[in-house]
Amino acid sequence: MSTFSAPKGTYDLLPPSSATYLAIREALAGPLRRAGYGYIETPVFEDTKLFSRGVGESTDIVTKEMFSLTKRGSEDLALRPEGTASVLRAALQANLHKLGNLPVKLWYSGSFYRYERPQKGRYRQFSQVGAEAVGAEDPALDAELIILADDGFRSLGLSRYTLLLNSLGDKQCRPVYRAALVEFLAGLDLDEDTRRRAEINPLRILDDKRESVQAQLTDAPMLRDYLCEECKAYDEQVRGLLTAAGVAFTDDPKLVRGLDYYTRTTFEFVHNGLGAQSAIGGGGRYDGLSEMLGGPALPSVGWGLGVDRTFLAMEAEGIVLDLPSATAVYAVALGEEAKNVLFAKTVELRRAGVATDLAFGVKSIKNAMKSADRSGARFALIAGDRDLAAGVVQLKDMTTGEQVPVELDALVSTLKEKQL
Ligand code: HAM
Repeated sequence: MSTFSAPKGTYDLLPPSSATYLAIREALAGPLRRAGYGYIETPVFEDTKLFSRGVGESTDIVTKEMFSLTKRGSEDLALRPEGTASVLRAALQANLHKLGNLPVKLWYSGSFYRYERPQKGRYRQFSQVGAEAVGAEDPALDAELIILADDGFRSLGLSRYTLLLNSLGDKQCRPVYRAALVEFLAGLDLDEDTRRRAEINPLRILDDKRESVQAQLTDAPMLRDYLCEECKAYDEQVRGLLTAAGVAFTDDPKLVRGLDYYTRTTFEFVHNGLGAQSAIGGGGRYDGLSEMLGGPALPSVGWGLGVDRTFLAMEAEGIVLDLPSATAVYAVALGEEAKNVLFAKTVELRRAGVATDLAFGVKSIKNAMKSADRSGARFALIAGDRDLAAGVVQLKDMTTGEQVPVELDALVSTLKEKQL
């Protein structure tokens, strides 16, 4: 036990469950790779203004949850609370939108930071696999991304989740709706803080989780009823493509999401085994963000899927991934000379692509064999002086217990044949 522990709201990823985390990241990224998305990595900290301008001054993420960095220079930096603003900043900075095909399709995987009140499924450092398709306005692109997220979740065996879908309108119809909502909100009994948030972004109030607020919203005007013809048609097409692909969704007219940049399609995947923090992923279209960051008009769409919550969702569904043991062969040497020979064979086997581990600091054969057992290896290699004198090592099948001598020279090819 150390005198230090992980900071509040964070946790360590440790073997063996860390292998599942890696597998989740791989599974969520797989569909993206197969759909032409290229990998992007951006710094974990950025100019604070990128987030306040991009994510929005009325959001909890910006007003309450940003990890600001104290440093010597004059720039104001913050740890990234999400990936979209950074990815778009990087794409604009590198002129990716001018250099190749549009949309520029990008995916990422990494840690994000929000100073939230920690609870199960809500952490101050968490991990997302994200995707952004920059520079195209096409309902098929929105549908593509939603289908790819669904494919990722399904490939992990998840099924107890629902896709919530909404449209937040565009710069034509949203202001009309906004005005109607502002008028409605003016007649409600709201505290100062909430009123201030409503002034910056009244839609945010729809998402307020408090009973006292929700109870007053039953007759609130709904954006759905204010959508312009273009937004309605766009929404219809996204829905049609999802249905054709067999992806079920539920309308959620109150889904506004916790970030201000969304336009038109917005969605969230919610899992029924997670309690309050039920969103395992979410995203949407953000047609105005590029201009908000000083770039040209680049209509875009994307999502972020929560790796931590996907892990919890799998636990809730009792899903255990069939991950091959990291170690296929475990070598146990009895005596100095045998140790040197098996060390050399271990190096050789690894170079030949066979995952091999070696017992270090062996005090007794019994303990070393226990380590072999715990390693999950399919075979143990055992050698003592007598074996070496005969030019063999003992190959023990850890499942059947059967043990056979194998010529040292034939060892690598024998194990390679077993396709470990
Ligand atoms: P978000 O909904 O804020 O969207 O986060 C996406 C997912 O990250 C959530 O659904 C959840 O699974 C996970 N997540 C968020 N906060 C936490 C937390 N404190 N602890 C654990 N997991 C968390 C975005 O971040 C947008 N950038 C998504 C996007 C990309 N929209 C367009 N492009």
